[in-house]
Amino acid sequence: MAAVSLPLAALLPLLCGVLGFPLGQETGPTAACGYRSCHATKPNLLNVHLVPHTHDDVGWLKTVDQYYYGDRNDIQHAGVQYILDSVVDQLLKNPDRRFIYVETAFFYRWWKRQSADVRRTVRRLVDEGRLEFVNGGWCMSDEATTHYSAVIDQMTMGLRFLNDTFGPCGRPRVAWHIDPFGHAREHASMFAQMGYDGFFFGRLDYQDRSRRRIAREQELLWRASDSLTPPMADLFTGILPNGYNPPEGFCWDQSCDDPPIRDDPDLEDYNVDDVVKRFLAIANTQAKVYKTNHIIMTMGSDFQYENANLWYKNLDKLIRYVNGRQANGSRVHALYSTPSCYLQELHRANLTWALKTDDFFPYADDAHDLWTGYFTSRPALKRYERISNGNLQTCNQLEVLGGPISRNGPFGKGDSQTMKKAMAVAQHHDAVSGTEKQHVADDYARRLAGGWLRCQVLVSNSLAALSGSTAERIYCDKLNVSVCPLTESSSKFSVNVYNPLARPVSWPVRLPVNGTSYKVSDAEGRSVDCQVVPLSAATRAVRRNRGFAVNELVFQARAPPLGFTTYSVSLLRDGPPAASTRRRTPTAIQNKFLRVTFDPDTGLLSGLSNLETKQTIKLTQNFYWYNASDGNNSKSDQPSGAYIFRPNSSTPFVISRTAKTETVQTSVLQEVRQWFSPWVSQVVRLHGDSRALELEWTVGPLPIDDDLGKEVITRLDSSIQTAEYFYTDSNGREILQRKKDFRPTWILRQSEPVAGNYYPINSRAFIKDEVDQLTVVTDRSQGGSSIQNGSLEIMLHRRLLYDDVRGVAEPLNETSALFPEGLVVRGRLLLSLDRPPTAADAHRPLAQQAVLQPTLTFTDGEPRPNTRLEFSGLQAALPPAVHLLTLTQWDEDSVLLRLEHQFQSRESKENSRPVTVNLQKLFSTLEILGASELNLSANQWKDEMKRFHWTPQTDEKPLLKRSGDPSSWEVTLRPMEIRTFLLRVDLR
Ligand SMILES: *[C@@H]1O[C@H](CO)[C@@H](O)[C@H](O)[C@H]1NC(C)=O
Ligand SMILES: *[C@@H]1O[C@H](CO)[C@@H](O)[C@H](O)[C@H]1NC(C)=O
Ligand SMILES: [Zn+2]
Repeated sequence: MAAVSLPLAALLPLLCGVLGFPLGQETGPTAACGYRSCHATKPNLLNVHLVPHTHDDVGWLKTVDQYYYGDRNDIQHAGVQYILDSVVDQLLKNPDRRFIYVETAFFYRWWKRQSADVRRTVRRLVDEGRLEFVNGGWCMSDEATTHYSAVIDQMTMGLRFLNDTFGPCGRPRVAWHIDPFGHAREHASMFAQMGYDGFFFGRLDYQDRSRRRIAREQELLWRASDSLTPPMADLFTGILPNGYNPPEGFCWDQSCDDPPIRDDPDLEDYNVDDVVKRFLAIANTQAKVYKTNHIIMTMGSDFQYENANLWYKNLDKLIRYVNGRQANGSRVHALYSTPSCYLQELHRANLTWALKTDDFFPYADDAHDLWTGYFTSRPALKRYERISNGNLQTCNQLEVLGGPISRNGPFGKGDSQTMKKAMAVAQHHDAVSGTEKQHVADDYARRLAGGWLRCQVLVSNSLAALSGSTAERIYCDKLNVSVCPLTESSSKFSVNVYNPLARPVSWPVRLPVNGTSYKVSDAEGRSVDCQVVPLSAATRAVRRNRGFAVNELVFQARAPPLGFTTYSVSLLRDGPPAASTRRRTPTAIQNKFLRVTFDPDTGLLSGLSNLETKQTIKLTQNFYWYNASDGNNSKSDQPSGAYIFRPNSSTPFVISRTAKTETVQTSVLQEVRQWFSPWVSQVVRLHGDSRALELEWTVGPLPIDDDLGKEVITRLDSSIQTAEYFYTDSNGREILQRKKDFRPTWILRQSEPVAGNYYPINSRAFIKDEVDQLTVVTDRSQGGSSIQNGSLEIMLHRRLLYDDVRGVAEPLNETSALFPEGLVVRGRLLLSLDRPPTAADAHRPLAQQAVLQPTLTFTDGEPRPNTRLEFSGLQAALPPAVHLLTLTQWDEDSVLLRLEHQFQSRESKENSRPVTVNLQKLFSTLEILGASELNLSANQWKDEMKRFHWTPQTDEKPLLKRSGDPSSWEVTLRPMEIRTFLLRVDLR
């Protein structure tokens, strides 16, 4: 009941022509933030919530720093520092005014540079709910191409800054994803578990929107998990009326041309009657497609409010004149508001809401405009982001396990913060999505590289502490193209394999070497099977002049959970020769678990068998390219571009019907190296003890001398009877069923038979029938689909010659200094063939292993005496159902831990059961003094987390009461549950 909540109070200074309130007068003793700071509404009128906001991309056409400072305004006029300066000034001029701020990456930059005075003022604005944080992650993440672990990390970082700086008044109540190009169910699930009361977004399929407008279902309850007990993953979701823009004719930013309110009746251009009339018409029309007597209008857009006076001066007047009509019987009440104040009114309405259980992919804004290209755009950046996530988790873990010396030790000062920030920025919806300009993509990659350099110092310090050896550690980050100066030249070196997973792994190590024979010994001194194989022509071509190895040394490393082991490698002078390659295609390669057959005439895959389960499927695989539409088309002038996938024919061109092959068959590994064209090759690889078949593809530079844009896919065609169904993961977690030319919630008119069936694949996709399931685990986010019965296709690379007119204004035509003729991209697909009831037991761990790969470090020569060669940070491996998602230093004497049940309910007979873990018996070296549970984003204590309750229209399941934990140390995880703990630890 603060004075500021009375709408008329604000009119006084305006009527008197006063510029602003003196500072001292505006804070009353009853000032409050959050829902209590909302302006009063009028129950019998149509309330129009005007939400002043700016959408500040954390990099897009300019880098995040260029946007912050307002540099390079020749590219786009945008300067976030000025926006925040100006908004704060303008909020002070009228206590009724409201503003929401979203992207903590920018707010943090700005806050750091403010004086104590300004900070005090801003704190007061936040405490009074006049400046409100919404969403509050470091960035507004992309939803199609991000992995859940990186999303949770970036949200945690942004929300932590807000809590540390502003306390409870800084905690956003509402998630706000107004720009991402389609919406993932896993994001909704995460937002629910982060404690948000509701979620708003702007973009959805145009057909879905028109149905929802008619049905008044633009506000709904999203039940975002098949496994978590409602309402744990229920999220109230609102679709904004106009994307995130103001209604037409009401944009009063300096970047807009709409007429200002000219309210001097003595002047020629007086337009108040006209403005009010237009506004009332828009409000009344909008109210027809929403359910309550409250509607929301987003008054702002990209990088607006740099001169906030323009917006606020006109909004003050708009509110005054619109509400002034109430005296003449107008039924419309306009007010300054925020998304949470609007949400509160929807909640008070106490209605029931349509229930949604699928997701909002793919997004189309017109019949031929499917935003499914960015699922794959910039595949090299997407892979680098994924590797960086693994590196960051290793860095975080080793910071904890190594203790404080990790940050300042024998190798100098290292930190995980730089990498955390770089990763957080990379989650933005124009970063890992691949929809930024080239120089901005380069900037994201540069930040990740810089972060990893800081982490390397930390990792070296930590490993020195844990192993007792300060020998210099060498990092070889280009092993994917077989470059590592140490292993290429040294005759004696050791390899430290750090495994960030909480269970032991067996991992193929592959190192560039110049000798033909090596001895590899494990930490116990036992010799390990190894093999030297000649380097392939494809690898030679892609590494260019960066290395000179002629061979590769391959062996299987076995690393303990959350720990490392060390292998010693020495050159043998007169050992056996390297394996030789044969030019003939074998009919089959096989190990204990799998048999892979080939067609000797074509050199292509022809079948796959799982020898344990005695399953065999026909399986061919080849590479194709879709001819990207150039926009010259009778149906639509939409070309393919960074965002949009639009093939100009549904039939892709085959790159080659046959592959030239070269085969290496040894007891350690077997490879069939396939060469399809100068720009497509592949290795079909089976390691000695692997249950998955590896397809290592190398694609590029895509030729464009024919002036045709190309979107390259690989397609697996199998004998599995899929009946048009296929399955993709959501942000690397729960699986969603997809059906060709079908959407679960509306009757689809399919106008793009290929692009309209593409979905994001973050970590895996599969096809199955009653008896067989073929799962493909990817090493980065990619787009994919099943267009024919039994087939699964994945888009690997794209090179396009036209901009797709969604703002980026560059064709997606990636080149680099090293690859001026076009980027070459290399990656891996892992295939597993299982019986459907046990498939998850195979693909869940396989996918985690692809995300959290071991980190290899090298030291020259023999390990020094007394070096500890093996270490595990755990007392014992965690059960197969449990994934250690986060282990990171929080402050001096506490660490943040997240444990995750990585199976869905009913997905696995063995593993879809609740599991109990004892927190005190988890770690081998950390003494846990206490544990407190937090929400998923670690910005609220779990027992203080209260969310609005929303009622769905139809509710099949009664709400189950979840039983408590066995004891305070023993915590139970149910399928798909993530639990977050702050552990007080003794780090001495
Ligand atoms: C909300 O509606 C339900 C059922 O219509 C009713 O029982 C309940 O009392 C209402 N709650 C409030 C706060 O009005
Ligand atoms: C939020 O920050 C306050 C200090 O502003 C701190 O006391 C509190 O513990 C923090 N909450 C959480 C959940 O970390
Ligand atoms: Zn954006």
